[in-house]
Amino acid sequence: MLGGSSRCCAGQQRTPGSDPPAMSSIAAVGESYQKFNPRAYLQNNYMPPRANFSSEDCVVPWKLRCLADAFATGDIHGRTLIDIGSGPTIYQLLSACDHFEEIIATDYLEVNREVLRRWVQDEPDSFDWSPYIKHVCRIEGKGEQWKEKEQKLRGKLRQILPIDVHQPEPLGSQFCQPADALVSTFCLEAVSPDRPSFERALHNVTTLLQPRGHFLLIGALEETFYLAGEAKLSVVPVSEPDVREALSKTGYHIHDFRTYLMPPGLKIGVDDVSGVFFVHAQKAAVA
Ligand code: SAH
Ligand code: ADE
Repeated sequence: MLGGSSRCCAGQQRTPGSDPPAMSSIAAVGESYQKFNPRAYLQNNYMPPRANFSSEDCVVPWKLRCLADAFATGDIHGRTLIDIGSGPTIYQLLSACDHFEEIIATDYLEVNREVLRRWVQDEPDSFDWSPYIKHVCRIEGKGEQWKEKEQKLRGKLRQILPIDVHQPEPLGSQFCQPADALVSTFCLEAVSPDRPSFERALHNVTTLLQPRGHFLLIGALEETFYLAGEAKLSVVPVSEPDVREALSKTGYHIHDFRTYLMPPGLKIGVDDVSGVFFVHAQKAAVA
């Protein structure tokens, strides 16, 4: 597994029951992810009350709407799409799957890659994404049956790869298949100890994208932590201007930027997020 305990910072103290140590380095972030519990994470973010499909004002339908609208423009298509830091989730790929021949999911943790492989293979006890798939079929309005979309995504998710966004070559030096588009949701700010490392991570993943390629980025606004079972993950707080600046510095043109304010009813103690941003950006033609 990438980021095993040998990566722990020298001299780092951990008192049982206390808060995790200050995230002073990328190695410490990697260490904190070793306790990430995919089931708890899914429960916290992808079940009610955050996943409430009866209201488009709820955060999960808002995210699905942003992605559906971006793909409905018809501008984002090609052979390969890479999802950066997929985690144990596939919702972020549901609108993408009609527009690409192949989708590559990636994550730092083997436990998350295993959750994804099990979903692709339709193993028992996989998370039930059917309400998400039905909702996306509904909002896309193409009359597609949800089972058809589910099969299509399973068929296109042929690679689930290890990744480390802090490496200059996040998928390793063997990977040389630049993508036509990238998606990344709740990853870059959640794995970066500070703004410079957030910006470097953005730069690193941008090397995986073709010039003029599209990037759909969703993330947490002004968040400092989130929970995933026993893991308490530190997050670098970012604002809309921070995200815009990071994208501009990396040579992106911003086509769409939307923000969602987290309503009090969805502040449920699993994080301290203020809101969510969605960006559709396009990489410059020349670096
Ligand atoms: N995309 C999912 C999961 C986001 S949680 C969603 O929308 O919910 C953040 C993810 O980043 C976790 O799955 C974690 O394993 C992954 N991660 C942690 N360190 C990373 C690193 N250095 N590079 C890439 N991904 C990392
Ligand atoms: N949804 C998924 N991950 C999240 C996070 N870190 N904060 C808020 N909402 C999320």
